[in-house]
Amino acid sequence: MDRTIWWDYGRACIGLVDQTLLPVQYRAITCPTVDDLVEAIRALRVRGAPALGVAGAYGVALAARTVGGTGFEEYLARVHETSLRVRSARPTAVNLARGVDRALGSIGDAGDVEEVRERTLGAAERCAGEDLSACRALGAHGAALLSDDATVLTHCNAGALACVGWGTALGVVRSAIEAGKRVRVIACETRPLLQGARLTAFELRRDGIPVTVCPDSSAAHLMREGGIDAVIVGADRICRDAVFNKVGTYMHAIAARHHGIPFYVAAPSSTLDPDLPASRVEIEERGEDEVACFGGTRTVPAGVPVRNPAFDLTPFDLVTAVITENGVFYDPARLFP
Ligand code: MRU
Repeated sequence: MDRTIWWDYGRACIGLVDQTLLPVQYRAITCPTVDDLVEAIRALRVRGAPALGVAGAYGVALAARTVGGTGFEEYLARVHETSLRVRSARPTAVNLARGVDRALGSIGDAGDVEEVRERTLGAAERCAGEDLSACRALGAHGAALLSDDATVLTHCNAGALACVGWGTALGVVRSAIEAGKRVRVIACETRPLLQGARLTAFELRRDGIPVTVCPDSSAAHLMREGGIDAVIVGADRICRDAVFNKVGTYMHAIAARHHGIPFYVAAPSSTLDPDLPASRVEIEERGEDEVACFGGTRTVPAGVPVRNPAFDLTPFDLVTAVITENGVFYDPARLFP
């Protein structure tokens, strides 16, 4: 599968697959300016915590190529302030801030503009490469947990499209299939933006992996019927006391616990946040039209208030294990060295 996000060396800008067009069109767009990138992040043209981390790092490299300044000090100040706009484009996935910080940190004692450009792009390329290898490694760890003919329920899109490639939750599925297992996926559609129906179903179908889409609200029923062997989801931020992921994850965790089904979180260690308590994590609230309108038609009576939290918090007592590139962690305390 092609990369979801990359540096376009010919045009000296960021290239990415526009995920708002899927599954109808698989089209690459470029972000020649930081404004374009910020818009692409806010509109979810690029999305998913690991991909956002790489977008953040490439965003610094883009800032380093597009800002001016009368002297080197002013140039550096502008690179920083422009990069901070990328950093704050979405609040919940820790990877975005991490990616920006890492690329900014690479500037160090660079002595001129050219060196800043080289260092920030080098850091961004390392982020991208590490994301691919982390997904491969965590995929192999997670694959060992699945039976030879497992049916896995997942939520949102924690696949190749949410990373540079391969994926986290879907990386586990891909690795299991690569190891010869016959794994099937139940993709919850993921209201309101349908990342499960549009994106998870798209990339699995494209790769010939059996996938069935179901309404989010049917997950507990499917578990009670007995056809789900494991739930695997990704994460936007893993704190010491809870996991943040796409809204709806928490209810799947509760239902899985009720039915005795293992609930796994698959994420690279770049998603771990040992410093912030869960109570201080900002859960993004998105625009009300995403909920109040369906297919361009208003479905909620005018004047009725709407809530649209994009993520929720799942406490660790509902999580069977966290799968990272470093192994399978049944005890969350061991995740944080
Ligand atoms: O709003 P999105 O589409 O960016 O939300 C994405 C998710 O919640 C994913 O499950 C998470 O980022 C993990 S992706 C490997």
